[in-house]
Amino acid sequence: MTTVHVRTAHASYPNVVGRGILGRISEFVPRRASQVFVVTTEDVWKLYGEAFKGGIGRECNVLFFPGGEQNKRLSSVEKLADEMLAAGGDRASIVIGFGGGIVTDLAGFLAAIYMRGVPVLQVPTTLLAQVDAATGGKTGVNLAESKNMIGSFHQPIAVLIDPDVLVTLPVRELHAGLFEVIKCGVIRDPELFELFATRTQAIHDHDPELIERLIAAAVRIKAEVVSADEREGDLRRILNFGHTVGHAMEAETGYTRYLHGEAVAWGMLCATRLANLVGMLPDTDANRIRQVICQYGPLPASRDLNPDSLITRLSSDKKTLHGRVHFVLPTAIGTVKVVDNLDGADVRRAIAETLQ
Ligand SMILES: NC(=O)c1ccc[n+]([C@@H]2O[C@H](COP(=O)([O-])OP(=O)(O)OC[C@H]3O[C@@H](n4cnc5c(N)ncnc54)[C@H](O)[C@@H]3O)[C@@H](O)[C@H]2O)c1
Ligand SMILES: [Zn+2]
Repeated sequence: MTTVHVRTAHASYPNVVGRGILGRISEFVPRRASQVFVVTTEDVWKLYGEAFKGGIGRECNVLFFPGGEQNKRLSSVEKLADEMLAAGGDRASIVIGFGGGIVTDLAGFLAAIYMRGVPVLQVPTTLLAQVDAATGGKTGVNLAESKNMIGSFHQPIAVLIDPDVLVTLPVRELHAGLFEVIKCGVIRDPELFELFATRTQAIHDHDPELIERLIAAAVRIKAEVVSADEREGDLRRILNFGHTVGHAMEAETGYTRYLHGEAVAWGMLCATRLANLVGMLPDTDANRIRQVICQYGPLPASRDLNPDSLITRLSSDKKTLHGRVHFVLPTAIGTVKVVDNLDGADVRRAIAETLQ
């Protein structure tokens, strides 16, 4: 069991990583909570509803959400809020997000705005949500034309991460989450990166202790970064390594070809190539990053994507400020630099060479 604390100006809370933590949820639910509303999907509830009920040990209202990006919308939040109100939810209620990143984003946002804000406890059940979405307080929903455009910062009261629930996660989803963990290694933790390079077989075999260790390391990094920089300042930006081009690739393919982590893996390959091309990253490190990412593939193809269309999308990204595209580029394994003054020709070349 590993507990990592997030401390921001607005909140301080534990992220607890441990096998079987699902059986101990009650310890993290404030006794004074008048009602508990669990936002989840039918598939997750079918698999883990009994364990959840056993762990919480008190009456709760289960609110089902259909899941899927297309349903991560304001209308779903409104529907859930109506259900909360109908069930007598008041300001002393709490919301628990129990599912993948879509559920934790939506439940977090519901909690942020229900009666101007009630506490949320996050219990993420995909690797991506465990190492990324559930920590950090970013919550929100999609607009028809663009992802995560409406939202709020609402820090949870705790994040409970049970690696045992990952046994039912499809392998492709698991690997997509692993790419976010590799990202953490490249941006801040050479030892974590080394585990991916040397313990490949054990990771492929889903060795539970190793997976728990990887999650704890990634959560520690996210917690450190968020604690130092709650909003999207320069430090928090380092978490966007691989996301500049990754987001463009997701959008370019209508969010249907890649899982988020897979697009990030392509994005990291592009950023690594770019860093190497402009002389910021030595060949040996660039090759190692590339090799490690490729060991956790295969990634869905990208050869047919047009680099120029991707570049056009880069400048319309939500994270683009004053028209300047920011890239997070590695300068060594474990260190990155945020740059916004790259030559467009280098960017194009790095993308074209990587995707070919
Ligand atoms: N807030 C943030 O900082 C942040 C960061 C990264 C991603 N996100 C968001 O996260 C979302 C993606 O999350 P995701 O990748 O978890 O996808 P997801 O929530 O769609 O979950 C993937 C699928 O796995 C199922 N599932 C969940 N847990 C399972 C389990 N234990 N066993 C079997 N199946 C299970 C889900 O029902 C779903 O069908 C995106 O909407 C993205 O915007 C948010
Ligand atoms: Zn991501």
